[in-house]
Amino acid sequence: MSKKTNSSPASEEKAKEASAAEQNEQTAAQAKPEAEAAKQPEEKKHEDAKQQEEKLEIYIPNGPRLGDVVIEAHDVKKAFGDRVLYENLNFTLPPAGIVGVIGPNGTGKTTLFRMIMGLEQPTAGTFTVGQTVKLSYVDQQHKSIDPEKTVYEVISQNSEWIQLGNRQVPARAYVARFNFTGADQEKKCGVLSGGERNRLHLALALKEGGNVLLLDEPTNDIDVNTLRALEEGLENFAGCAVVISHDRWFLDRIATHILSFEGDSKVVFYQGSYSEFEEWKRAQGGDTTPHRVKYKKLME
Ligand SMILES: Nc1ncnc2c1ncn2[C@@H]1O[C@H](COP(=O)(O)OP(=O)(O)O)[C@@H](O)[C@H]1O
Ligand SMILES: [Mg+2]
Repeated sequence: MSKKTNSSPASEEKAKEASAAEQNEQTAAQAKPEAEAAKQPEEKKHEDAKQQEEKLEIYIPNGPRLGDVVIEAHDVKKAFGDRVLYENLNFTLPPAGIVGVIGPNGTGKTTLFRMIMGLEQPTAGTFTVGQTVKLSYVDQQHKSIDPEKTVYEVISQNSEWIQLGNRQVPARAYVARFNFTGADQEKKCGVLSGGERNRLHLALALKEGGNVLLLDEPTNDIDVNTLRALEEGLENFAGCAVVISHDRWFLDRIATHILSFEGDSKVVFYQGSYSEFEEWKRAQGGDTTPHRVKYKKLME
């Protein structure tokens, strides 16, 4: 795939098409059968686009139009007590792209998301969040989810319809897209397996309608079908997605950028796919100290 890494005319074009398709959705829904024969070619084209969207198992609404400034980290330092997770963290998230966040457990990936969300403060440095940014995030611990409620209740919030951008879908159908069918929808959230919990969180995050998605390990324990649907959903998403994952094959298929938490307080921001990042790392002899300006490094 070739996601645009900046707001080029091509990505604007894509955003326009997406919004045109969404608008047409309503027109098509209102159209009467006898109007079918009188369809103009332009109308037909939009309907094809609509059908294509409906084939996706996971459709991610694009959210409001995203401006050039997404999220920037400026010399961010984060420490808990005397333990420094990182310092001099610098990156600029792309308006259209998928940033794969990698690194061992405990290196501060979740903490980065929490700082972006304002749930945690940096020890030093700042984050700039663009004015047009609307974040979609579900925390990894999912403390806000009532363990006594069912999957269906939590996702639907007791409404039969779910608003996805400017379209409405039946709540049962939406929940089913995340591989919860029949009796699975009635399972209590407190007894879900790891994979089920992850699918629940995805369903919650993806209906928020943000233009910047922060997904914290959505690929853990999920089945291959949901994984593929998520890949496809992300590839068709017009905004910026930041995805923490240990699944390198998944990342290699979707990531346009890599943010690598290397341990020893070092984080590397790389513009390119996961394979390119690996190759670049090998070329450095395993030393990821960046030698080019575009690779931003954190600590000596
Ligand atoms: N609120 C907190 N107080 C103290 N230590 C914390 C807090 N939150 C996270 N940590 C510690 O910071 C480190 C990084 O955590 P985290 O961001 O969850 O890492 P990751 O998501 O990369 O596995 C861990 O050692 C964790 O125990
Ligand atoms: Mg984490």
